[in-house]
Amino acid sequence: MTERDDGAPPACPWHADAVPLYETVSEPDRRRVWEPLRSRFGQVAPVLLEPDLPAWLLLGYEENLEVLRDWGTFSRDTRRWNEIRDGRRKLDEGLRPAMGYRKSAIYCDGAEHARLAAPISDALSRLTDTRIRTDITEAADTLIDDFCAEGSADLVADYADLLPALLMNRFFGLEDIYGYVLGELSGIIWTADGARGADAVVQLRNYFGGLVLQKRAVPGSDLTSWMMEHPVGLTDREMADQLVLLSAAAQEPTANLLGNVLRELLVDPDVAREYASGGLLLDDIVNHVIWTEPPMQALCARFPTRDVTIDGTRIAEGEPLIIGFAPAHHDPRLRDARDDTGSPLPSGHNSAHLTWGAGEHRCPAQSLALQVVALGIEHLLDRLSGVRLAVDPGDLRWRRELLSRGLTSLPIEFTPVPPPARPAPAPPAARPADGGEPVPQTNDLLHRVMRWWQGSGRRRRR
Ligand code: HEM
Repeated sequence: MTERDDGAPPACPWHADAVPLYETVSEPDRRRVWEPLRSRFGQVAPVLLEPDLPAWLLLGYEENLEVLRDWGTFSRDTRRWNEIRDGRRKLDEGLRPAMGYRKSAIYCDGAEHARLAAPISDALSRLTDTRIRTDITEAADTLIDDFCAEGSADLVADYADLLPALLMNRFFGLEDIYGYVLGELSGIIWTADGARGADAVVQLRNYFGGLVLQKRAVPGSDLTSWMMEHPVGLTDREMADQLVLLSAAAQEPTANLLGNVLRELLVDPDVAREYASGGLLLDDIVNHVIWTEPPMQALCARFPTRDVTIDGTRIAEGEPLIIGFAPAHHDPRLRDARDDTGSPLPSGHNSAHLTWGAGEHRCPAQSLALQVVALGIEHLLDRLSGVRLAVDPGDLRWRRELLSRGLTSLPIEFTPVPPPARPAPAPPAARPADGGEPVPQTNDLLHRVMRWWQGSGRRRRR
């Protein structure tokens, strides 16, 4: 497998050496997964993501950064995967979603990427600070109003999982009720249940198909309309694919980061006390969590455009490389530099982590995501008093997932308080871009999604 300095012959990752990473999902301490791999293989380990899905996992900080930055040598385009290129698999057949292909910015390189990414980043840049703050606060209020009188809640299912979805749905230009549907669908897509996942993809296509039709008819002051009016001229199909990318990219990592930072505040009394007294900034706690429990542990994938050697390991053109955020953040070579920051929390002041990616595909929404997390937490703690964990910290469970890192639930108790009376918020259709008449918020495709959701009951994914 590896071509080490001792001149041993290279073998391939399809070899028996590949470690079945999918068998390690129940290990709560992920360092017990990464470190034996690092000791055994160095900074690049042969792994199996699924029984028949071999890949290389990048463990080192420098190695991950180099691959992320060098997009000429390491393509994001799944069509370059050797299994696809050599006809052993078909892109649309039974693959985990991250290894499939859609014509969206994340799966494209070079000029094609630039064309598809420009409407996304330009539209995101049109969201004003006031709009972002208002929408985060209103969406947070909607969720908190639902449980504040009860004196207890699950901050994962009732809050962290829903806030990003409600917010993105507002930014897309739809009423809040569709945000719950979007949260449900995005959650199912990330689970390993193939049949439910396929059902959810159909509904997501209806959601975004209906949204695009609606905004073509009457544009508004929203991401969808701004992307549509961009000079690159996205087709309806391209629009729907970029919107799927936006919602999927936004949902899981933001929900996980929000939940993981709330966990840190609830399980560590020293952190909570320091934060309450102003001795510790929320930014520092967020940074600490990103270094220790990044919301995405690993990411599929990059495909070398030629044979390469990384840390002495020979990787053939087209063999998938998995970006290892969590192992990179625990790279022992970083230890001295990372901890010498003067922060009360390890790495609290240090934002040189890899969580936002690097190079061509670097996250265009870093600042937005951080605002959702910070405001989401500040607003929750402003609204509720006496918040405490309702279970022993040792009873909290991580989801059994390989790539993402989030809790199954985060039960809390607090002093119950009735929700304030609020005027019904104006639906997004009340603010069409041309100032004309409001339009109805539904069409046939969106109705179908709503019927599916209502028929399924308000399901929770976990
Ligand atoms: C904590 C939250 C988030 C994290 C950790 C995160 C992380 C990342 C990372 C690592 C990438 C690069 C993927 C790669 O190189 O293959 C990325 C790309 C992307 N992210 Fe984020 N993200 C977050 C939130 C968001 C939000 C809220 C949005 C949308 C509003 C968003 C939109 C995107 C898009 C569109 C891309 C693709 C960029 C491209 O390929 O050009 N992300 N994100």
